[in-house]
Formats: sequence, C-alpha cells, structure tokens
Amino acid sequence: MSSATTSQAAAEKGSKASTKKGIKETLLTPRFYTTDFDEMEMLFNTEINKNLNNSELRVLQEFKKDYNQTHFVRNKEFKEVADKLQGPLREIFVEFLERSCTAEFSGFLLYKELGRRLKKTNPVVAEIFSLMSRDEARHAGFLNKGLSDFNLALDLGFLTKARKYTFFKPKFIFYATYLSEKIGYWRYITIYRHLKANPEFQCYPIFKYFENWCQDENRHGDFFSALMKAQPQFLNDWKAKLWARFFCLSVYVTMYLNDCQRTAFYEGIGLDTKEFDMHVIIETNRTTARIFPAVLDVENPEFKRKLDRMVEINQKLLAVGETDDIPLVKNLKRIPLVAALVSEILAAYLMKPVESGSVDLAEFEPQLGY
Ligand SMILES: [Fe+2]
Ligand SMILES: [Fe+2]
Repeated sequence: MSSATTSQAAAEKGSKASTKKGIKETLLTPRFYTTDFDEMEMLFNTEINKNLNNSELRVLQEFKKDYNQTHFVRNKEFKEVADKLQGPLREIFVEFLERSCTAEFSGFLLYKELGRRLKKTNPVVAEIFSLMSRDEARHAGFLNKGLSDFNLALDLGFLTKARKYTFFKPKFIFYATYLSEKIGYWRYITIYRHLKANPEFQCYPIFKYFENWCQDENRHGDFFSALMKAQPQFLNDWKAKLWARFFCLSVYVTMYLNDCQRTAFYEGIGLDTKEFDMHVIIETNRTTARIFPAVLDVENPEFKRKLDRMVEINQKLLAVGETDDIPLVKNLKRIPLVAALVSEILAAYLMKPVESGSVDLAEFEPQLGY
C-alpha cells in the first residue's frame, strides 16, 4: 500500500517536473549547420570586398532598434490551453513546438558563431549576426517555454553537443538561410492572417505572436539578401542559377513532404495543408525571384502535380518502415520507391525555370519597410 502511494507520488512528481528530451531524427528533421568560417572571414573583409559598405550599417541600425524586445511575454492562457489539449491533438502540438524550437535554435547557433568569428574582420556584420542570434534565441526560448506547459523541455545544451551538423560552404549557407528565413516569414504570416480572419480556429495562444515574430524572420532574410548583393559572384553566373533552383526545390519539397505527414496539425487550425503549403511556396518563390538569378516555375500546375506524386511515394516509403519485415526486405522494398522519388524530384528540377533576379550594385539600397 505504502509503496503504491510512494510510486504514485513519484509519478505525479515526475509528471509535474519538466522532462528534458532530445528529438527523433529523420531525414526531414530541421538541421543544424556549420560552415567554413575562414572563407566567411575572407568574404567579409572590407579590404578585399569593396562592395561591403554602409548598407550594412543601415541594417545594423534596424536590428539595434530591437522592435520585439517586449513582444515575447507569456500569459496564463498558455498553460490553461495546454492542460485542455488532450489525445492526438496534444501530441501534434508538442511535435510542432519541438520542431519549431529546433529550427529556431539552429539559426541561433549558426548566427552566434558567425557573430563571434567575424568580430575582427568585420565588426558591423558580426554585430548584425549577434543581434540575429538574439532574435532566434528569443524565438527558441519562447517555444521551449511553450513545451514546459506540456511538462516537457528540449535539452538545448545536449542538442548543441550531440547533434550532427551539416556542413555548407558560405555560398550555400547564404542560399539556404535566405530561403529558410523567407519561407519562415511566409509560414508565420499566413497562419497569423488565417487565424485573424477565422478566430474560431485560434486554439493555441502562440499564433497570436506570429505577426511581430515573422517580421524578425523577414529582417533576417533581408540581411542575407543584402549580403548576397554584396557578393555578386554568388548570383550572376550559370552555376548560381543551377544552385538557386536546387536550393529552392530542396526547401519546398522538404516542407511539402513534412507538412503532408502532419495534416492533422494544419486541419486542427482550419487550414488545408496542401493549399497552405502552395500559398507559402508561391509567395516565397516570388520574394526569392527578386534576388536569385533563377527560380522554379512553381505556379505551373505541373509543379504541384509533381509534389503530390512525391507525397504519394513518400507515404509508401513510410509504410514500408511500419511493416514487420526484416531490415533487408524493407531496404529491398525501398529501392524502387526511392528511385521513383528521385526521378520525380529530378523532373521537377528540370522543369523550365523562370529567369529572375535584379542584381544592381550601383542602385542597391536595403529595402526595410516594416
Ligand atoms: Fe526565428
Ligand atoms: Fe530568423
């Protein structure tokens, strides 16, 4: 009797205390990035690159204003709503918080390191990176506090040490980070506007913070846009066109496949997953077309048809993983599916691209209108 009471008490205590945890790794989990910091230092050396000039200083002033300093303040609604969320919806929200927190934290780590490493070569750019890491730390912290309402917490210290980092050369860091900031902006603002118009789906208070939050992401994206304009060699040749399309495709496909595995989340807030994703992809692509020399023709209906076929193949791949077959049989079953997925991705990549971009250094002025 007494031992039962003790274990019950222990269980209760355990459920009250936050459980620190890692995350389930898959190919589509948000990644952590690292880069060649020596090359970064060369790129930002104002003696080597004369294109780096006062435009960065202006951006710095924007970041120093710290528009969202007092924005991320929680209220008691968070805990109340978390307690009410039960069953599958609870799991979906926890996963949403975990994935978003990981993605924000990934930005924090990269920007913090860039801020540290560029201090000597280019103090202005270094300070901007540090201020961006401040924003991402805020975002990640806010999401992690959201998790604490569910008696969970991501162990960010552990993640920093234990996770694998994907290495990208600076040029690719620029493409990938620019895109992820802009797609992040479009995701947040689209959810925010949708819930504002349809308040009956406002089921979790974090979405109310998205309007100002997404402006941080937009500013981060604009900074990368300014950086790329100062490095025109990353934008103005045939290789840049191929890479720009490659990064667009990988970012769009990853989001589409990820979200189509989590339709319950989007339906839970009254969105049609595929419609939402296509809206985000089209808007991100239009934004990106202002800077990338070539983008994908995502408004061609064939592009969406290809994405939908990738979703079908991915679902079959996931189903193979769920069976009781031995690993060898699973892998054999996967081969034709992976081949089909790769050929679908390749076909999407080879669709006739849209020529874009408007790199004009002489007229360049950072566009910061918030
Ligand atoms: Fe962020
Ligand atoms: Fe960001």
